[in-house]
Amino acid sequence: MKVQDKNYRTIWIKDEDEKVISIIDQRFLPHRFIIEDLHTVSEMVHAIEDMHVRGAGLIGAAAGYGMYLATIEAGNRNSFDHILASADALKATRPTAVNLEWAVNRQLNAIVQGKTANERITIARKMATLIAQEDAEFCRRIGIHGAAIIEQISKRKRGKAVNILTHCNAGWLAFVDYGSATAPIYEAFERGVDLHVWVDETRPRNQGASLTAWELMNQGIPHTVIVDNAGGHLMQHSLVDMVITGADRVTLAGDVANKIGTYLKALAAHDNGIPFYVALPSSTFDWDIHDGVKDIHIEERNPDEVKYIYGLCDNEIKKVLITPLDSPAGNYGFDVTPARLISGLITERGICLANEEHISKMYAENVKEI
Ligand code: MRU
Repeated sequence: MKVQDKNYRTIWIKDEDEKVISIIDQRFLPHRFIIEDLHTVSEMVHAIEDMHVRGAGLIGAAAGYGMYLATIEAGNRNSFDHILASADALKATRPTAVNLEWAVNRQLNAIVQGKTANERITIARKMATLIAQEDAEFCRRIGIHGAAIIEQISKRKRGKAVNILTHCNAGWLAFVDYGSATAPIYEAFERGVDLHVWVDETRPRNQGASLTAWELMNQGIPHTVIVDNAGGHLMQHSLVDMVITGADRVTLAGDVANKIGTYLKALAAHDNGIPFYVALPSSTFDWDIHDGVKDIHIEERNPDEVKYIYGLCDNEIKKVLITPLDSPAGNYGFDVTPARLISGLITERGICLANEEHISKMYAENVKEI
């Protein structure tokens, strides 16, 4: 997508050196656009843990490239143990998004086919590229399917602006390109639909205020940043026509783990009869579990993310304490929205209801016989 009219993806193999992975370092957005080069698996592990890269699809792609770096390092040391240890280290970085584990396992299954270090490097490079390409392509298709829903609402409103609320950043920065929740918005906007996006700021890391708003601003899409607690009020006053969020792990029964606060938006949407859609590529399904509340491991992050915020002050990015220094803080990264609150799942194959019957029909090849 565009950054000051130039097209970027969020991760790529550096042109000048194929042993280096380049990323957009998201910690400095929206104030600074910085590209970071990663040379080692431990740099990739740190970049995922510390959220230089983030978002379910992108951390999956980053893990894929991390495994490519692992094969290069293993070649130097002539050891398969390093590949396995790197896989474990990458998987441990962020537990909630299933894409990460999925990408690492996909790489491991491919890499074991290589007989020499060089073969393993070639295989891992191809697989990392494939994972990234697929991620972008799936998001593009999510956009096409989801735009049809926005167009329908627009017709019903006789062309008046469609107001869409979104939470966190499930935009192109959370994937390799296009995004999941934002892809339908970009596509509908391209098709000429009048629309406006309510952007939840999304405490504590403010992915909405700093990332989604920046993306929409760069695409020229009308939007307004709101505090996380404003959604219910806007819904009660008919100022929201639909909600679209992303997902970090979706169970076979259609329960959705997404950024903390998503569940509350779904409850408010349900209470106000507003459609609540979740957009995801199939890499975000966890085919092994049903009950999201019981079975999804919710990441708990450093309490300092709650106690401090970052912002621009005198043209410098500064960190500011906003709680009493000694007050403890809790930092739950995600919550689970039960399937009953979800109007539909927008996937690369089309839209399905959030239940086992419809998900299994759409992805029959992934559903295991019990
Ligand atoms: O903690 P993050 O920023 O990696 O959170 C993931 C997310 O971006 C959201 O939960 C998002 O809505 C999921 S879609 C990739």
